[in-house]
Amino acid sequence: MNRMTASVVALAATALAGAAWAHSGATGKVKERMEAMKEMGEAMKSVAPMMRGEAQYDADTLRKAARTIADNAGNALTADFPEGSLHDPSEALPAIWQDWDRFEAIAQQMKATALGLERAANNGIGPTGDTSDGMGAMMGQSDSGDMDAMMGQSDAGAMMMGNAQSSVMGMSADQIAQMPADRAFAMTAKVCSACHGDFRAEDD
Ligand code: HEC
Repeated sequence: MNRMTASVVALAATALAGAAWAHSGATGKVKERMEAMKEMGEAMKSVAPMMRGEAQYDADTLRKAARTIADNAGNALTADFPEGSLHDPSEALPAIWQDWDRFEAIAQQMKATALGLERAANNGIGPTGDTSDGMGAMMGQSDSGDMDAMMGQSDAGAMMMGNAQSSVMGMSADQIAQMPADRAFAMTAKVCSACHGDFRAEDD
């Protein structure tokens, strides 16, 4: 898929997502954070094929996606979760406000990781087949190519959650920035799943 086709598909996906919100009945902060999360989800999807080597690598596209995630992370993310903002159809868990320090730490880690990813775009895709050594060890033998699993939308994702946290939590933007782009992307996805694993109700 060329870049233009990819952006047309992304636009179509955004339009569909917009229609879904209209039916979901979300209002106020719940609606705002769902839209922010959708934006991050679209950003991840827009680069996933390229990260898997299934589409032409383009550093600018990756930088743009990383910037979108960084903009929606950190304080921007926590500001969308005021205490008591828990009403239908929110999938947020009360644990957010019971363990606010941890929720906030993951939100800040999200920002640092996305800023690192933005810089890692210059590094390009790492050599193939080396996920079994350095990266494999660092990521706790996870399947770094499977975005759904990394995002915690499957049993495999749930099982990897512990590894995800120990491997990426505490990493600085500088550390992420030194990784090949696809590894930095995998780290980014792990922060998403670390938070969803603890603080978001299962979808299905
Ligand atoms: C610090 C915690 C946290 C981080 C980090 C995080 N999320 Fe979320 N995400 C949530 C919570 C909580 C919800 C449920 C919000 C609600 O329904 O009120 C959610 C919901 C979502 C949704 C569903 C939105 C909807 O319309 O219902 C998507 C998609 C999503 N996140 C994608 C991502 C992606 C992609 C990343 C990483 C780039 C990410 N999230 C990072 C906490 C987080």
